[in-house]
Amino acid sequence: MTRLTITLVSLLVLPAAALAQDAGDAAKGEKVFAQCKACHDVEKGVNKIGPTLKGVIGRTVASVPDYKYSTAMLDFAKTHPAWTDELFLTYIENPKKEVPGTKMAYAGLKKPEDRANLLAYLKTRQ
Ligand code: HEC
Repeated sequence: MTRLTITLVSLLVLPAAALAQDAGDAAKGEKVFAQCKACHDVEKGVNKIGPTLKGVIGRTVASVPDYKYSTAMLDFAKTHPAWTDELFLTYIENPKKEVPGTKMAYAGLKKPEDRANLLAYLKTRQ
């Protein structure tokens, strides 16, 4: 390829790749969800150690009716009404930092692409 062609190809391909990453990859996200499965299901009404995550994106924080949340999570819900994309991404990076005192015993997802892919997966479980 000539230098010009390479430049043109990069101009076309790179923004598309960046967008794809922003949007997240649900198939990869399903693999990341393996880390959540011990405690969370994605079926309606199925609570494990943690509440069901079916439809969690967009859902009111701490709102699964028959699940007993920690006081920390119930307090958090007063100032954070819903699991928006942004709130979910911040929370899952470091749950104990975002919600001090939460009973979710999980260290967090450090890689931004893991968080974006997981978000995309959870959106397929509405
Ligand atoms: C060791 C068990 C455990 C693991 C692993 C775990 N969670 Fe949780 N999760 C919980 C518990 C327990 C709660 C309830 C927290 C509370 O009430 O303080 C919770 C709450 C949540 C909530 C809030 C739900 C609501 O109804 O408001 C979200 C979102 C969440 N977890 C996502 C995840 C994701 C995504 C993963 C995987 C990356 C994960 N969790 C891994 C136990 C776990």
